[in-house]
Amino acid sequence: MKVRAAVLEEFGQPLVVQELDLAEPRPGEVLVRLVACGVCHTDMYTASGVDPSGYAPTVLGHEGAGIVERIGEGVSSLTVGDHVVTLFSPQCRQCVHCADPRTNLCLAIREQQNRGFLPDGTTRLSRAGEPIRHFMGTSTFAQYTVMPEIALAKISPEAPFDRACLFACGLSTGLGAAMVTAAVKPGSKCVIFGAGMVGLGAVAGCRLQGAERIISVDLSEQRLALARGQGATDCWRADGNAVERILEVTGGFGADYTFEATGLVSVMREALEAARMGWGLCTVAGVAGRGETLDVVPRLLITGRRVCGSSFGGLKGRDQVPALVERHLRGEIEVDPFISHRMELEQVNRAFELMHAQDGIRSVIMFDSAA
Ligand SMILES: NC(=O)c1ccc[n+]([C@@H]2O[C@H](COP(=O)([O-])OP(=O)(O)OC[C@H]3O[C@@H](n4cnc5c(N)ncnc54)[C@H](O)[C@@H]3O)[C@@H](O)[C@H]2O)c1
Ligand SMILES: [Zn+2]
Ligand SMILES: [Zn+2]
Repeated sequence: MKVRAAVLEEFGQPLVVQELDLAEPRPGEVLVRLVACGVCHTDMYTASGVDPSGYAPTVLGHEGAGIVERIGEGVSSLTVGDHVVTLFSPQCRQCVHCADPRTNLCLAIREQQNRGFLPDGTTRLSRAGEPIRHFMGTSTFAQYTVMPEIALAKISPEAPFDRACLFACGLSTGLGAAMVTAAVKPGSKCVIFGAGMVGLGAVAGCRLQGAERIISVDLSEQRLALARGQGATDCWRADGNAVERILEVTGGFGADYTFEATGLVSVMREALEAARMGWGLCTVAGVAGRGETLDVVPRLLITGRRVCGSSFGGLKGRDQVPALVERHLRGEIEVDPFISHRMELEQVNRAFELMHAQDGIRSVIMFDSAA
C-alpha cells in the first residue's frame, strides 16, 4: 500500500513528507493506522545527526497511537479494530528479562530494531524498490506502520488518541521512574530535576505514590507552573544552589528520592548529592551525550545513597502502559496541559522548531485531519 510518511533523508536537513510503499504485515506483525503521534526530542536528536547510532533514510516517530488495521499470521493478542500505543521498548513475555520483575529490557528484538529492521531482518517500508529502514521499531511519522505484535500495547477504546500517544514515551518514562523504578513510598520527600515531559511525568508519579513533598527544579518558570499543576509542592528555579537548599529543608539529610530528567551529567551529580544519606535513591532518566561520564564521590555511596538508571520508566509496556492510560481516564493523570500544538504530518518540521524554542511540551501530529 501507499502511505504518506515523513522521511529523514539526510542528517541536519528538514524531514521530507512523501509517499512510500508499505508491505503487508508478516507473521507476528501488525498493520496499524496511526491517528496521533507526539514529536519527541529523540526524533529531533536523530534528525540532527548527533546520535552516533542514527541512520538514514528512515521514517522517524515513536510516540504513536492508532488502530489495528490488519494482523499477520500467528498474532493472537490483538485483533482488527483494537486501539494501541506503540512501544519502542517491547515486551515479548518470554525472554529471561521479561520473566524477571527486576527489568523491562526485553531481549527479543533489540539487535534488529537498533539497526532499523523488523525482527526478521528486513523492512516493510520501501521506495521504488529501495528498502527504507524503520526507526526505533516504530516509524510512526506515517499514516500507517507495520510493527511487531510484542511492541504494541492494547489500550482502552475510551482513551482519546491525541492524549494516549503521550504514554508511548516521555510521560510514561517519568511516571514509571517514580512508580516502578524508584517505587516511591507514601510520605516521602522527592526532588525532580527537569520539568520537561519526563520530569513532569515523574512529578505526577510521585504524587500518585503519595509523596508528602515534591520539589520540582527547572530553569523555566513556565515549566515550573506545569509542575505545580501535576502536584509539585515546591517549584524552584535552577540556580546552582539546589543541593544546598534541599539539604537545608531536609534537616541536612537530603531527599528520600531524587530524579534527574535533563540529560545533563552535572545535574545527575546534583541529583545524587541531594539524595538522603542512609537510603536516598537517585534515579537517572536523562540520556547523556556520547562519551560523557558521571562524576561521583564514592563516600556518598558508602553512606547509603544509591543511584540507578531507568529506561522507559522500568515499565513492561504491554502490561503497564494500558494501566497508566486507565488511570488517566479515571482523572488521576491530567495530560491536556502537555499538548501545546496539534498539527498535520506536513508540519512536522515546525514541531522540531517549536521544540527547539522550548515552546510548549508536546506537539502532536493528528493524522485524521491530514487525511
Ligand atoms: N530513559 C528513557 O527511557 C527516556 C525516555 C525519553 C526521554 N529520555 C531523556 O530524558 C531527558 C528529559 O527529556 P524531556 O523530553 O523531558 O526533555 P526536555 O528538554 O523537554 O526537558 C529537560 C528540562 O530540563 C531543564 N533543565 C536544564 N538544565 C537544568 C538544570 N541545570 N537544572 C534543572 N533543570 C534543568 C530544562 O529547562 C527542561 O525543562 C532527556 O535527556 C531525554 O533524552 C529518556
Ligand atoms: Zn520519545
Ligand atoms: Zn522479552
